[in-house]
Amino acid sequence: MKQSGSKSAPLKLLVLGGTAFLSKTIARYAVERGHDVTVVARGISGEPPEGARHVTADRDSAEGLRALADRHFDAVVDVTRLPGQMKRALETLAATTGHWTYVSSCSAYSDDETVGQTAATAPTLEPTDEDSLDPDIEKYGASKVACENLVLRHKPDRSFILRAGLIVGDNDPSYRFGYWPDRIADGGEILAPGAPTEMVQYVDVRDLANWVVDAAETGLTGVYDGVSLPMTRERFFTEIADGVGATPNLTWVPQEFLVEHGVKPWSGDDALGLWLPLPEYAGFLTRDTRPAMEAGLSIRPLADTAADWLATRDRRPVPNAEGGPYRSLTREREAEVLAAWHESR
Ligand SMILES: NC(=O)c1ccc[n+]([C@@H]2O[C@H](COP(=O)([O-])OP(=O)(O)OC[C@H]3O[C@@H](n4cnc5c(N)ncnc54)[C@H](OP(=O)(O)O)[C@@H]3O)[C@@H](O)[C@H]2O)c1
Repeated sequence: MKQSGSKSAPLKLLVLGGTAFLSKTIARYAVERGHDVTVVARGISGEPPEGARHVTADRDSAEGLRALADRHFDAVVDVTRLPGQMKRALETLAATTGHWTYVSSCSAYSDDETVGQTAATAPTLEPTDEDSLDPDIEKYGASKVACENLVLRHKPDRSFILRAGLIVGDNDPSYRFGYWPDRIADGGEILAPGAPTEMVQYVDVRDLANWVVDAAETGLTGVYDGVSLPMTRERFFTEIADGVGATPNLTWVPQEFLVEHGVKPWSGDDALGLWLPLPEYAGFLTRDTRPAMEAGLSIRPLADTAADWLATRDRRPVPNAEGGPYRSLTREREAEVLAAWHESR
């Protein structure tokens, strides 16, 4: 039976992954739309969504997907970062499956500096070896390119390559976006990095997941970036403030001063999320994603994303707790840097 919101008859959908953040959201939405969903994972990252069939398998093993050989699926979604896993999946499943979505990354690009690039023309990194199972994070972007090439070769007319930007939302294992709604909701003087006119981009995991399920239903093909249109950092803070019901008291501190005072970019201890060195990364958060919007990616208001994130606060780990996840600049360090900034003026 066709479900409300579904753009097709029920599909047999295979999600390679399906137990963590994005891939789990994709599997959940597909179940909710009435599709017959199978997820494949080792069972380490989490549980599959209710209503999905779970095949337990380790894709690092050459025989890992044997249980799926000769099974027909109308559509496949894969999120792997290892070309060796992708190659085995395609060798096992390409002949008996239809549409193939591969969730790649904007880290696949080789030019992080040029502003306003599109997926159709931006150069990508040299791919790693197609058999590689090397999880080295330094090879992440190049491994994603190798995975993309494999998909394009095995499924030249039926593949959707989605290069995701920063994915945010409930169960986000990082704190790169989440820091900001929390910080703005807490009030007081807020250290705002760089300049109000600098650009940022992000995508709500729910919007990306919806688009992936839409793509499986409609058979969307091509290579796209999966991220919002760029917006100024000032607007980013204003819309988050709307969402969390606060009036932010921002003090803008230039990059050079932050670097001198040990504030780190992007993620981790001492870091401010969605802040990257300029001009080196001027292209990373300014991708021209109009083709994605035209192909169906719909981005909910940032205020809603921020409010929904804040609503998860009671069930999230406390940021910067000893040995815990969600690392960022601490409130104490923020106050120190702000004091030094005012002192220097
Ligand atoms: N987060 C971001 O901001 C961001 C930005 C750009 C692109 N991306 C891309 O977006 C995607 C995110 O995927 P995700 O949120 O679903 O998280 P993920 O952490 O990439 O999920 C990996 C999934 O694959 C399964 N898996 C991992 N190793 C496996 C193995 N050896 N055998 C079988 N299954 C295995 C995991 O389950 P088990 O561990 O239980 O096996 C899990 O279900 C990735 O493609 C990532 O590269 C993310």
